[in-house]
Amino acid sequence: MAGITNTAFRRLCREFGGGLFVSEMVTSRALVERTEESMRLVGHHESEDIRSVQLYGVDPKTIAEAVTMLVAEDRADHIDLNFGCPVPKVTRKGGGAALPWKRDLFDAIVNAAVRAAGEIPVTVKMRKGIDADHLTYLDAGKTARDAGVAAVALHGRTASDYYSGNADWNAIAKLRESLPDVQVLGNGDIWSAGDAVRMMRETGVDGVVVGRGCLGRPWLFGDLQAAFDEYAINPNSNAAIDPIQPNLGEVSDAFKRHAELLVEFFENEDHACRDIRKHVAWYFKGYPVGGEFRADLSRVESLEQMDEILSRLDRDLPYPGEEAEGPRGRLGGAKVCALPENWLDSQELVGNQRNMLQEAELGASGG
Ligand SMILES: Cc1cc2nc3c(=O)[nH]c(=O)nc-3n(C[C@H](O)[C@H](O)[C@H](O)COP(=O)(O)O)c2cc1C
Repeated sequence: MAGITNTAFRRLCREFGGGLFVSEMVTSRALVERTEESMRLVGHHESEDIRSVQLYGVDPKTIAEAVTMLVAEDRADHIDLNFGCPVPKVTRKGGGAALPWKRDLFDAIVNAAVRAAGEIPVTVKMRKGIDADHLTYLDAGKTARDAGVAAVALHGRTASDYYSGNADWNAIAKLRESLPDVQVLGNGDIWSAGDAVRMMRETGVDGVVVGRGCLGRPWLFGDLQAAFDEYAINPNSNAAIDPIQPNLGEVSDAFKRHAELLVEFFENEDHACRDIRKHVAWYFKGYPVGGEFRADLSRVESLEQMDEILSRLDRDLPYPGEEAEGPRGRLGGAKVCALPENWLDSQELVGNQRNMLQEAELGASGG
């Protein structure tokens, strides 16, 4: 997740449980240009044994160059291609979740990436399509499979769904059924390990992709690890586990650790403190810590000040239950997907659409 899954947060999550922890999205063009930011985004800590990089691009040649660079410089063990971004400034130029509509372009990008990656596994992450009348996932899934990807992940929403309503797990099941010969991963509304096991069982997918559910809850990966260990032994059991239910002291410690890892990542305490502020509401969701505490922590300027604010907490306060669970992060907001003029008229690139697409890589952020 853009702005979230930097090395710092990935390390924290890994301390609780296993999984494949994917980098923030990096645009292929920025990577080819070796911008400082993109080089930082593809960096990994030495403890990350599978270095997973997510790329976003709109041009097969640039994608191939970016992948070639990652491989030649031994910077990744797994490359994920993101086709899920619903942000209007990206889809308006034909990028993100609007891109798979152009079958020729999608095919060319995925093939270029897989060829350039050689032995390194490439996966694809996408949404269902542009809107309910313009679904792309079944076609795109087959194209990706034929290109030789290692897995296809589907977020069960369209671009115009944005983050609203419930993810459509039926679509995930349908993709699974239509692609028996490649790994299919399901994404959307996994807030707990119970949800993950339910998705596996209801859709038949090989695994799940977690987004917002881990915001402020890195211990979710501990629960997932326990549930999947149980599921692997006996898929027919309900894989019930005792979920991790941190008291306030444990939440506070995880928050502090996250901040410390951010200082290491940004090599800058000020930057780290500004970054951790967006996580405050997620970590302390449901805990009765008071508005003043939240406001103070949301303005924190140094680790020393953070210690002072956190020291005001009653560390023994128990897990509040449901209040701390469920949806968090981006929610709601179904909207008509912004598209280039006449985009839907043809499923092939026509006219100057290829040139226009170059702009769809500027300012892209997440999915
Ligand atoms: C803040 C934020 C940033 C995101 N950034 C990315 C990203 O960089 N790449 C990506 O594939 N998806 C990104 N997503 C989408 C999630 O990975 C995921 O597909 C989506 O939130 C649905 O899954 P969930 O219900 O588990 O959150 C982002 C989501 C959020 C909320």
